[in-house]
Amino acid sequence: MILVTGGAGFIGANFVLDWVAQSDEAVINLDALTYAGNRENLVSLAGDERHLFVQGEIGDSALVARLLAQHQPRAIINFAAESHVDRSIHGPEDFIQTNIVGTFRLLEAVRAYWNGLQGEDKPSFRFLHVSTDEVYGSLSKDEPAFSETNRYEPNSPYSASKAASDHLVRAYHHTYGLPVLTTNCSNNYGPYHFPEKLIPLMIVNALAGKSLPVYGDGRQIRDWLYVKDHCSAIRRVLEAGNAGEVYNVGGWNEKANIDIVHTVCALLDELRPREDAKKYCEQIAYVTDRPGHDRRYAIDASKIERELGWKPAETFDTGIRKTVQWYLENQSWVANVQSGAYREWVEKNYTGRVA
Ligand code: NAD
Ligand code: TYD
Repeated sequence: MILVTGGAGFIGANFVLDWVAQSDEAVINLDALTYAGNRENLVSLAGDERHLFVQGEIGDSALVARLLAQHQPRAIINFAAESHVDRSIHGPEDFIQTNIVGTFRLLEAVRAYWNGLQGEDKPSFRFLHVSTDEVYGSLSKDEPAFSETNRYEPNSPYSASKAASDHLVRAYHHTYGLPVLTTNCSNNYGPYHFPEKLIPLMIVNALAGKSLPVYGDGRQIRDWLYVKDHCSAIRRVLEAGNAGEVYNVGGWNEKANIDIVHTVCALLDELRPREDAKKYCEQIAYVTDRPGHDRRYAIDASKIERELGWKPAETFDTGIRKTVQWYLENQSWVANVQSGAYREWVEKNYTGRVA
């Protein structure tokens, strides 16, 4: 039995779906179902006894202690977080509560549980913390990609809160001996990605005939990894990673935002041409830049490749095509996740940004 937190969100849901498809080991899925968590992502698991969904907060110490005592998981994978940089700029409080206080409370409950484990169960237990490359800050054009030994230089309230959680996880290993693993991954894309992030927002807006808001000059660089490759990396680290170690995960796919937007537009031109025969890229609108916008992220994934033999299965070209196709085939999913709260967010974030 494993316990996954945040398993109704984008990466967590992909992880749970892949896990159940590949293993007979059961999963308890603890998720607070914030705006980003969606039971619909897991609908294909309805009635499957290997998946137990529990709605609740990672910071609810009593609930977490009860789940641990009752189900005795051999591992915990912590996906639960507030994850959107723009939201962290508008309102950092939730990020501090979930990413820092929540992770701290989760670690405390896990430490108490782990202390009580007997025999081989104790050293073989794993707490895997899922983190981001954004903790390393921003790279200039010619700097080498982030390695695990890069200094932490987080620049947004989101990345600062993830950095704090990474430090707590590290400290629980160093001080208490808790067998932790940390993964720092680059930007993910793929199915079930909430349409407030760049790639799904561009697909959804393009199809709806809306503008495609590109922040600043659009030349900011992100390093993109198909979500299922991130999930396979997490499974590999869980299986073979050394306790206390950090593994950077990435696909060696640095792309400027504007190039991503053009790629999405070109795929839509091919797969779902506009009725007026115009090109989707005509919908691109440059808008005011994000405050404190990190210029470039890039991941050096050589440690996980060398030590654990992990490699991504998708190239960017294959992954982005699958992604666009998934959104075309799942437009009712998009409609369902775009709740009233989501519409209010779009209003707040983009008002005043249009250049
Ligand atoms: P997401 O926002 O799509 O999902 C987060 C999930 O966590 C949601 O289901 C939400 O309901 C749940 N959640 C939020 N607060 C909670 C709480 N207090 N208790 C329990 N559940 C809670 O995020 P994501 O993109 O799937 O990211 C998952 C993890 O991976 C995060 O830790 C994020 O920092 C990290 N990460 C994301 C990316 C990326 O590109 N999306 C890249 C690297 C790392
Ligand atoms: P995002 O998907 O929010 O991920 P992150 O900020 O965690 O990297 O944004 C990816 C990049 O796309 C980032 O440089 C900001 C930019 N961006 C836009 O240009 N327009 C948008 O509407 C959004 C949401 C993001």
